[in-house]
Amino acid sequence: MYSFICDYSEGAHPNILKALADTCYEQNEGYNYDQHCLTAAKRIKEEIKRDDVDVYFLPGGTPTNLISITACLRSYEAIIAPSTGHIEVHETGAIEAAGHKILPIETPDGKLTPSHIQKILNGFEDEHTVRRKMVFLTNPTENGTIYKKAELQAIRKICDDNDMYLYIDGARLGCAIMAEGNDVKMEDLPEIADIFYIGGTKNGALMAEALVIVNDKIKPDFRFHIKQRGALTAKGSVLGIQFEELMRDNLYFKLAKHSNEMAQKMAKELEGLGFSFLTQSPTNQIFPILPNSIISELEKSYQFYIWEVVDHDHSAIRLVTSWATPEEKVDQFIKDLKQFI
Ligand SMILES: Cc1ncc(COP(=O)(O)O)c(C=O)c1O
Repeated sequence: MYSFICDYSEGAHPNILKALADTCYEQNEGYNYDQHCLTAAKRIKEEIKRDDVDVYFLPGGTPTNLISITACLRSYEAIIAPSTGHIEVHETGAIEAAGHKILPIETPDGKLTPSHIQKILNGFEDEHTVRRKMVFLTNPTENGTIYKKAELQAIRKICDDNDMYLYIDGARLGCAIMAEGNDVKMEDLPEIADIFYIGGTKNGALMAEALVIVNDKIKPDFRFHIKQRGALTAKGSVLGIQFEELMRDNLYFKLAKHSNEMAQKMAKELEGLGFSFLTQSPTNQIFPILPNSIISELEKSYQFYIWEVVDHDHSAIRLVTSWATPEEKVDQFIKDLKQFI
């Protein structure tokens, strides 16, 4: 069995494991005050070309989303998100459990547009309703699609015009940045988002996300929010070390590039065989539509999600490659699939 289930399946890049081993007897300050977190934060600030942001290291995507969103919102404030958004579908109602309504919007490809947001804003709002205060988006989206810079700027504008924060979930941000056709640079992100995170867990880290706070209104007392939600890790240095390595010599971007290349090689081969896709993804998640008979055969040797039933005989599957996917596994998958056509 080989797994194309997700990009968290492997351990961590050897540079990270080596750095962790090299520092295993080192004594560090607790709770993210250590030298590694400081160095990693400095490298991130250099990468995004902004010194006036706050950077925190957190152990996973769900706590990062939960803490970021709840720290920004008052009890009666709500967040607009695509209906496919991770916070809406895959986080066990964490945001709702914290008391905030998610206002979901149907989108054809997982991408929000100002007109989607406007539709929600057109609804009635006063003290009998929740207040719309934040927009959530993921880049790349859960459908593997990416935003162009102009699209993000247009969303920024509608947030500004309506006094709303913009939060970007960057669980796979490296894959968006390295995707063919992408024009968003790392330094554009603080110009666009009030708060965003650079995902490490799905791009070679053992488990670490780097949260960047741009808007000064969100910065005060942020450590209290992290601690209260149980994510201020005593051994914060372990998180810092991971990002120190990811941000050394462009490792973060090299790993994401490999991830994308493996999925795109698969996509090209599948396209050549005449298969279509649920969405046009230039990143490391692809959604080919296959006959169910072929899917059943492939399931004997490969793990992947059946993402969506397309019709009686066809389904879209999700194939995810990672920083560690060997090219031979991609070649073997295509070779195996060809047997069933
Ligand atoms: C876009 C996105 N955000 C957040 C998460 C949550 O991450 P975690 O599983 O580390 O809580 C995921 C995980 O799949 C994700 O894909």
